[in-house]
Parts: sequence; structure tokens; C-alpha cells
Amino acid sequence: MTIRNARHPFYDFCDQALADIRRQGRYRTFTPLARQAARYPVYEEELNAVPDGREVVVWSSNDYLGMGVEPEVCEAAISAIREHGAGAGGTRNIAGTGPWHKALEAELASLHGKEAGLLFVSGYVSNQASLQTILTSMPGWICFSDRQNHASMIAGIKGARGSQTVIYEHNDLADLEAKLAAAPADAPKLIAFESVYSMDGDISDIAGTCALARKYGAMTYIDEVHAVGLYGEEGGGVTQRDGVADQVDIIEGTLAKGFGVHGGYITASAQIVDYLRSSASGFIFTTSLPPSVVAAALASVKLVRSQNWRREKIFERVNTFRAKMRAAGVPFTMTPSHIVPVPVGDAERCKTISRRLLNDYGLYATPINYPTVARGTERLRLTPGPFHTDEMMDRMVEALGVLLAEVPVPSSGQTPVDKAA
Ligand SMILES: Cc1ncc(COP(=O)(O)O)c(C=O)c1O
Repeated sequence: MTIRNARHPFYDFCDQALADIRRQGRYRTFTPLARQAARYPVYEEELNAVPDGREVVVWSSNDYLGMGVEPEVCEAAISAIREHGAGAGGTRNIAGTGPWHKALEAELASLHGKEAGLLFVSGYVSNQASLQTILTSMPGWICFSDRQNHASMIAGIKGARGSQTVIYEHNDLADLEAKLAAAPADAPKLIAFESVYSMDGDISDIAGTCALARKYGAMTYIDEVHAVGLYGEEGGGVTQRDGVADQVDIIEGTLAKGFGVHGGYITASAQIVDYLRSSASGFIFTTSLPPSVVAAALASVKLVRSQNWRREKIFERVNTFRAKMRAAGVPFTMTPSHIVPVPVGDAERCKTISRRLLNDYGLYATPINYPTVARGTERLRLTPGPFHTDEMMDRMVEALGVLLAEVPVPSSGQTPVDKAA
């Protein structure tokens, strides 16, 4: 047990900051749920730490296609562990590169039609390390960053000392163009944006953004984390679906969502990948992904590329769910993606509805509150997947209908103290 050093002010700072976070209804509580691989999206809630708890149907997983429970993917991980052991044993430079790392990088490069690929230990790290390294490489970089870019992109952009950041309004190409036009013509420029924005479920205009990049001599960097596996004829993301992958300089993705495993990556030209491989601290100085993870991810990417039925199935399920919600008069935000946000509008109400979904109905949907989304736009974010049955959907629609009517919006406009904390 750590002995408290009462003299150091950081302890008091933590107490104060946590009290503030609780008062604002932002205190984070985790819900431990054990995924049942053979029955996904069924999980078990381990009540009072007793195994074999209650069954819960999860509606918030980012394993969108269920690839993390696909037997071929799991078998690839198990046999890699048997053959090569549990961990990678080193960084990529220090005995941590196996043939499977290179095979997966080649597979990802081919998926996105790029010359080369580079693996990172997570999607977060791929964004943070790549953006920071690029934007500190030459003097004078200006990064044009969409206002709603993910925290990992912001971390990389903010960490690039010496570069300038210009934030443009979300998906607003007129604003982007005005800001590009106002920048010095000879400055090296990078436009950083996403394809599918995961909280609102909207999709950017990639062709339009690339046209502006060409007009103003900017490079483009896109995060396809919520799109890979799901969009495009082989799951190459929205860039593949829209036929614009060749117009984007750097495509970043994750192996942890549509591919259901773990890890992040970028794909780009051979020299950009080679430069990042040789310069990005977040790539060089960390133990590489273990063989089991890489083998599973490789199996998953290959399956997802070749099996279009998985993409057809998820969109059929999403459309069926929306039709059921509509028929029952349960409000949701219509999006052009697979994401179904249910607006709730208040942090405490959002947590209460989420808690009651779990306690009363055995359904789990994560409450999405500030700072992940702006105050007043709190929501439940539902991700129907290929294995959500009609019966599961009927239950969720019924439960939401009851709870949205029963749980009132607090009238004070002030977020009450988090009673669950
Ligand atoms: C847009 C976006 N980019 C990157 C990441 C990080 O990916 P990973 O979970 O693989 O670290 C996330 C994670 O949720 C994300 O939403």
C-alpha cells in the first residue's frame, strides 16, 4: 500500500479535482462485463465478483463485426502463442519483429492501395506518434485540424512543438478553404481529419477535402478507425468506398474495432513509412505487438477483406434496428454510418438510463457524457452488430421507450452530483 506523503500538494490536488469531477457528473465508473465468445453480443455481469453472473446484451461494442470472437481469428492467436510464446520480447528493433509483423504491414498497405504500412501498439499511439513526428520534422508546419478530431490526433498535434495549429469547423470545407487561403502559400501544410466521426456518426467529404489539399498544396492525413472493415468493397474504409484512397497521403486505422483484435497502423508512401519507422518515438521505443495479436489481426483482415457478407449483415441489422425504433416512436439521430446515437441531453439522466437499462433489462449501452461530447448533447451510443437478433432489438426498443419517458430531464439545468460515484 502506498504511504501517503501528506506534505506533497499533489495529493490535495487530486482530492479536489476528483470532487469537482464528481460534482459535474463526470466521474467515470467501469462496468465489468465478461464477453462470452460463443454467444456474442452476450456478456456476463460478474455480480459481487461471483462468476457465472447475469447475462447482459451489450449494445456499445466497437468490435463492430464480431471479428474478436471469430473462431479462425481466435485460433490464429492460440496457435501463435503455442508456437512463439506470449509476448513479443522486445521493440521492433530489438528482436521484436517477426515475419507476421511484416506480413500484416504488407496486407494493410495492400488493403489501402499504399506502398507501405507500419504497425503501432494501438490506434491512439499511431495517431499521436505519427502526427507529432511529421509536424516536428521540418520547420514551419501548419496543421489544419477538424474541430472534432479524436483525442489521439489532438495529442499528436499539440505535442508537435514549433508547428502551428489551425482548427477548422467540423466537416466545414468553406471554413477549411478560408483558413488554407489565409495561410502563407509556402508553409508546409497538413490537413488532419477523420472519415467516420464515432460520436455523431457523420462522415466527412474526403474528395472535397483532398481537392482543397491539392489546390493549396497541403498533405492529407485521415483517421479511418471507425470505418476500416465496414466500408469499401474489401473493408478499406470510406476512402475505398469513395474511390479516393490514392488522393490521401496517409491513411491511419486500428485493428481493434472493425477487425476486432488490437493495434494501430498507418499506410502511406514507402518514404513516409520509412521516415516514421526511423523517427517516431512512439514506434521505436516500445515493445512491439505480441505474435498472437498480430497473427489474429492478420487472419481477421484477410477474412474481412474477402467476405462481403459481414458488411452486408451489419448494415442490414442497423437498418432493421432503426426501422424498429422509428415504428415505436423512440427518438434517435439518423446518421449516414452504422452508429445510432440516442439523444439524452443531460449527464445524470444519461447515466441513470444506462444504469437502469443494465439493472432492469440486462442491456448495456455506455453513457456518453462531457468531455467526450459537448454538454447538452449527452447520449447513448448504440452500435448494432451482425449478431444482434430481432428479439434483442425488440427488447432494447421497448426498454428505451419506457426509460426515456420515465427518467425526467433535470429542470435546474445544473448537473447534480453523481450519486453512482
Ligand atoms: C477516431 C479514433 N481514433 C483513434 C482511436 C484509438 O484507437 P485504439 O482504440 O486502437 O487505440 C479511437 C478510439 O476509440 C478513435 O475513436
